[in-house]
Amino acid sequence: MTSLTSAKLCFLPYCLVIFLYVSSPNWVAFPSATSTSDIEAKALLKWKASLFPNKALNSLTWYPPTHNINATNSSSSSPKQKTCPCTWTGVSCNAAGSVSKLNLSTCGIQGWGTNEDLIISILGHRNAAQRKVIRQTYAEAYGEDLLKELEKELTSDFERSILLWTLDPAERDAFLANEATKKWTKSNQVLAEIACSRSSHELLMARQAYHSRYKKSLEEDVAHHTTGDFRKLLAPLVSSYRYEGDEVNLTLAKSEAKLLHEKISDKAYNDEDIIRILATRSKAQINATLNHYKNEFGNDINKDLKADPKDEYLAILRATIKCLVRPEKYFEKSLRLAINKRGTDEGALSRVVTTRAEVDMKLIKEQYHKRNSVTLDQAIKKDTIGDYEKMLLALVGHEDA
Ligand SMILES: *[C@@H]1O[C@H](CO)[C@@H](O)[C@H](O)[C@H]1NC(C)=O
Ligand SMILES: *[C@@H]1O[C@H](CO)[C@@H](O)[C@H](O)[C@H]1NC(C)=O
Ligand SMILES: *[C@@H]1O[C@H](CO)[C@@H](O)[C@H](O)[C@H]1NC(C)=O
Ligand SMILES: *[C@@H]1O[C@H](CO)[C@@H](O)[C@H](O)[C@H]1NC(C)=O
Ligand SMILES: *[C@@H]1O[C@H](CO)[C@@H](O)[C@H](O)[C@H]1NC(C)=O
Repeated sequence: MTSLTSAKLCFLPYCLVIFLYVSSPNWVAFPSATSTSDIEAKALLKWKASLFPNKALNSLTWYPPTHNINATNSSSSSPKQKTCPCTWTGVSCNAAGSVSKLNLSTCGIQGWGTNEDLIISILGHRNAAQRKVIRQTYAEAYGEDLLKELEKELTSDFERSILLWTLDPAERDAFLANEATKKWTKSNQVLAEIACSRSSHELLMARQAYHSRYKKSLEEDVAHHTTGDFRKLLAPLVSSYRYEGDEVNLTLAKSEAKLLHEKISDKAYNDEDIIRILATRSKAQINATLNHYKNEFGNDINKDLKADPKDEYLAILRATIKCLVRPEKYFEKSLRLAINKRGTDEGALSRVVTTRAEVDMKLIKEQYHKRNSVTLDQAIKKDTIGDYEKMLLALVGHEDA
């Protein structure tokens, strides 16, 4: 289904070294596996099977523990330690007998083969810190950068999802924000999404990553590529550093709810007070203000901001508000639109799945199921195929859908 380019072929086996190196006992979820070494053995053999025949790998042979009912046989034609991959060439184990490192650099292996299944099952279950090690090691080993790979426009949906997922979250945000500025259109909500759904610290880290990656600031690129009211809103949003505490000033919430209502009634949607409130107040404070808005004036603010459903500035204002106070609803909608679109929007699908997998995917899935009466997994299965589908399902964590 997916053919990895030769440049990437050298990256993947190296990944395996690191994946195993950082592995904890629950390192890969193979549902039916019985023990860690069983799981590891199966994973290694699967990988081996994907390679061209290679004599150096002959020691990777499995004597399945479950078939070892004759082990009491004193002639012991299948020595017990062979049931554990720890005795295999290039494999090291920790004290608990779990594979801790795989170094096949002397085996003359040139490529990964084509085992996307293994990449998915391993990579799909790494956390951000573990993936960071992979990325650093890749950079050191090859003097190459995963981001560069991503920036090649030719990558398939599968490769793109793998690379996005492997990136450090701050670098991923910087990459996505940069892409959004370069491809910016009035209907592109990615900048507002990143600015409003990340924590203040995460957004700061993304801006720092942007500096080091692109040798300029996100703010200046946003200002350069956007225009008019969009620029007025987006520039302060991407540069915000909101207070993150729960404290709410109710007096302020009431007065600002009133202010918002006045401006919206006047159709002054680009008013600087609206933008100031959305770009500077804490999320808790905005939530309180909007709760008060609804109680006092009868409508959800986003309903009042729907006066002209086709207006793209109003759409981005509504997206901003949703992202700030109900991110799971915002992301549910992004996924729904991406999936229901004629010819699936894989860019949006990969972005939302890779950026939310470790954040609020559970809430998003609940929201999705409620809103669409099918689960997100079912929707993904219906709309995507092959390795890309498998990767998305691994990230969405289909076991608890
Ligand atoms: C156990 O040993 C018997 C007798 O040698 C043999 O027939 C049988 O296949 C062995 N079972 C397994 C699972 O290896
Ligand atoms: C033990 O192994 C020997 C040699 O492989 C075989 O002849 C014998 O049947 C085995 N004994 C049992 C109990 O499986
Ligand atoms: C793998 O083994 C080779 C040869 O023993 C060694 O030079 C190399 O540093 C090892 N690599 C890692 C990542 O441990
Ligand atoms: C709450 O906001 C009002 C209006 O801005 C301000 O006068 C008051 O000092 C604030 N209260 C607290 C406790 O910060
Ligand atoms: C927003 O306010 C509602 C109603 O008080 C509350 O249930 C919800 O948890 C708040 N959300 C946030 C993000 O503060």
